[in-house]
Amino acid sequence: ANLPLDLFAAINELKQELNAVILAHYYQESDIQDIADYIGDSLGLSRQAAATDAEVIVFAGVHFMAETAKILNPDKLVLLPDLDAGCSLADTCPPDQFAAFKAQHPDHIVVSYINCSAEIKAMSDIICTSSNAVSLIEQIPADQPIIFAPDKNLGRYVMQQTGRDLVLWQGSCMVHEIFSEKKLVQLKMTHPEAEIIAHPECEEPVLQHADFIGSTTALLKYVQRSDRPQFIVVTEPGIIHQMEKQVPNKQFIPAPATGNCACNECPHMRLNTLEKLYLAMKHRQPEITMPEATRVAALKPIQAMLRMSA
Ligand code: 13P
Ligand code: SF4
Repeated sequence: ANLPLDLFAAINELKQELNAVILAHYYQESDIQDIADYIGDSLGLSRQAAATDAEVIVFAGVHFMAETAKILNPDKLVLLPDLDAGCSLADTCPPDQFAAFKAQHPDHIVVSYINCSAEIKAMSDIICTSSNAVSLIEQIPADQPIIFAPDKNLGRYVMQQTGRDLVLWQGSCMVHEIFSEKKLVQLKMTHPEAEIIAHPECEEPVLQHADFIGSTTALLKYVQRSDRPQFIVVTEPGIIHQMEKQVPNKQFIPAPATGNCACNECPHMRLNTLEKLYLAMKHRQPEITMPEATRVAALKPIQAMLRMSA
């Protein structure tokens, strides 16, 4: 009700009015990607959030991403179009259970994947993303024991890449766990020319078939430099919108899911819509807030990440 006919124009107007920047993740619907000032992976988005001089950050992503922007910008208004846009992976790591787990390993430092709540970040020493996890672990002295949370799939991948032994929290992402190895192999048989590219949140049997593994930004860069004409994309298919925009002469096939589920869209990411983004800017809510003590404690490991991956 009462929505302007041209949402794109109305959002651009509000952007000027609020002195706002729109940051969007690659898993957002195409329209949101098209109106964003910056689209990126979790590391890129954190860097943008740390550097922006806009007064308002409109975060088109999920809760932990907007929360990270707020941790970095306590004095700015940070808006999330739908406050229910959570993350199944972040949800696998409740703070009280994680505190008990950490207490069982008092000699360990905690490296947490950015896909976790501010409370978990506040209990961590270093935050990482899928694009810097391997490099950050490699920078930690070899004799230092490490807890890695919350994604067991990224954790296992990092263990393989670094040869380090990590104590893993057993969390996972519902979107990346749903890909079918069997259907992937069948698809590859009918498309032998295609390269399989996958996100490290996928399970091991699926990753074993990948020609390239990386964060969303790394996957996007890979399809630009590879000389293959066709790719099977094993991550949330929102990224395919950018791939098609940036590399229009190549073909991108979304990897199939198990069972009868035809789509691998992240149900949390997709709660955000262009309409909700407009309404959030118009009403200056829903706003991200958190207790100051949590924010201050969560800031330290984020700053460590930004420093170590400069
Ligand atoms: P990246 O974009 O950092 O690769 O993260 C993927 C993801 O699942 C975000 O929720
Ligand atoms: Fe969370 Fe997975 Fe959705 Fe990313 S794709 S926001 S990790 S549920």
